[in-house]
Amino acid sequence: MSNSDNIASARAHSNIAFIKYWGNRDHKLRLPANSSLSMNLADLHTTTTVEWSYALQVDSLTINGAPAGDIPLARVRRHLDALRHRLNTDWHARVESRNNFPIGTGIASSASAFAALTVAAVAAYGAEFEERELSTLARLGSGSAARSIPAGFVEWRAGDSHESSYAETFAHSNHWDLVDVIAIVSRDHKRVGSSAGHQTADTGSLQRGRVECASGRLRDVKAAIKARDFERFAPIVEEDSNLMHAVMMTSKPPLFYWQPLSLAIMDSVRRMREQDALQVCYTLDAGPNVHCICLAADALAVATRLQAISPKIDIMRSGVGGGGVVIPLAGA
Ligand code: PMV
Repeated sequence: MSNSDNIASARAHSNIAFIKYWGNRDHKLRLPANSSLSMNLADLHTTTTVEWSYALQVDSLTINGAPAGDIPLARVRRHLDALRHRLNTDWHARVESRNNFPIGTGIASSASAFAALTVAAVAAYGAEFEERELSTLARLGSGSAARSIPAGFVEWRAGDSHESSYAETFAHSNHWDLVDVIAIVSRDHKRVGSSAGHQTADTGSLQRGRVECASGRLRDVKAAIKARDFERFAPIVEEDSNLMHAVMMTSKPPLFYWQPLSLAIMDSVRRMREQDALQVCYTLDAGPNVHCICLAADALAVATRLQAISPKIDIMRSGVGGGGVVIPLAGA
């Protein structure tokens, strides 16, 4: 162990997928049904400090300064078990995690949280792993966390084993000036989280069709990003989101994340593109909030139009972000 203090801090960003991850071929290892692609969100991040100690009897976790509840604590302990196994230690850890985006906005924090936890825990132990291995380890905590380790536009190769299922940068953060204007429709905690949702993905008849054509969409979206071609990019991103939600709605039991306001926003985004020539498209994760992906030059106009739909909508925005990195000790 080369880090004599056994403590380190790391920061990782949230990400929004253009080609979605939904369903696993191996739930325990979180080996996904299909490869996926996302962009990291520069302005939404988690900062985590991990301290390993032989003197601790149990792992502890605070989130934004308050002791975590039983469910997040159990999930973090399971992830620390996986890291202990890899680091070959039986020490316990004190974990302090802070999100710069408000918890309970319905914006998933598991990707940035498990990426930051993985990077901080490995660094605190004094180990140095390649980005690829950090991505596989983060994946064990939350699938999409694998994509928050590398920077910029990131592809997660589905793989067929722990070692071969990892994410890597497809294009750097400054490759294309895209912005995610997030329309927050509901701040309610989702009733069915994504981990439970992945388990039911195969119970309906549509998942197989979605997965079969996912590699074609991935290929096309990569070509569109490479060429910075928004007209090619937009319909693929919207179709991929619609397909995932069609799978969700036809699973057993069905999962409906869209709300009436989500539909009004999706409709408005299509009109912004078709009638106002704004370069914008929508995508939704496992929740009702609508991520409006647009060119930076159109972000203000998009935000203004979204706000006009309903005063109930809150807006957040972010450009393309970097990867998970060790930072100077937070709060020290
Ligand atoms: O990483 P998880 O288990 O929270 O799954 C994320 C699933 C989606 O956000 C709905 C899609 C994605 O690819 O990010």
